[in-house]
Amino acid sequence: MAMEQTLSMIKPDGVKRGLIGEVIGRFEKQGLKIKAMKMLHLTLNQARAFYAVHKERPFYDSLTGFMSSGPIVALILEGENAIQVNRDLMGATDYRQAAPGTIRADFAKDIEANIVHGSDAPETARTEIAFFFNALEKV
Ligand code: CDP
Ligand code: MG
Repeated sequence: MAMEQTLSMIKPDGVKRGLIGEVIGRFEKQGLKIKAMKMLHLTLNQARAFYAVHKERPFYDSLTGFMSSGPIVALILEGENAIQVNRDLMGATDYRQAAPGTIRADFAKDIEANIVHGSDAPETARTEIAFFFNALEKV
């Protein structure tokens, strides 16, 4: 196992529903360290840039509209195997397939509005961290 950093977001539905503390509590209980954190409201163009990897997918316009519909919280999480540990806490993309006890299984009601984002690999983690945070914003 390797010490890793990953990029997490609490999506607009998670912020609106008052789940910031719940989600961050799960990260901390699992031993993930918060290395940076901020709340911001993405513009549509910023959401489109963040999700550019999905630009050919049928859900791209809807997803980027949703992601720019309200404030989000972006975090850098650090720990052993942090990318997979965070993905395991999140659960499957589709909340109906997410394992019991995961964030998405417990709270999501929609495949798009599924509370959290997490990087899926070391290279995407690097790119996504750089999208949100500069060197001065990391501890
Ligand atoms: O977020 P995750 O990495 O689990 O899933 P993804 O395949 O990278 O898709 C990114 C996001 O697009 C998902 O978290 C959903 O919000 C949304 N999505 C959707 O609305 N409909 C789908 N069929 C697949 C994904
Ligand atoms: Mg993804």
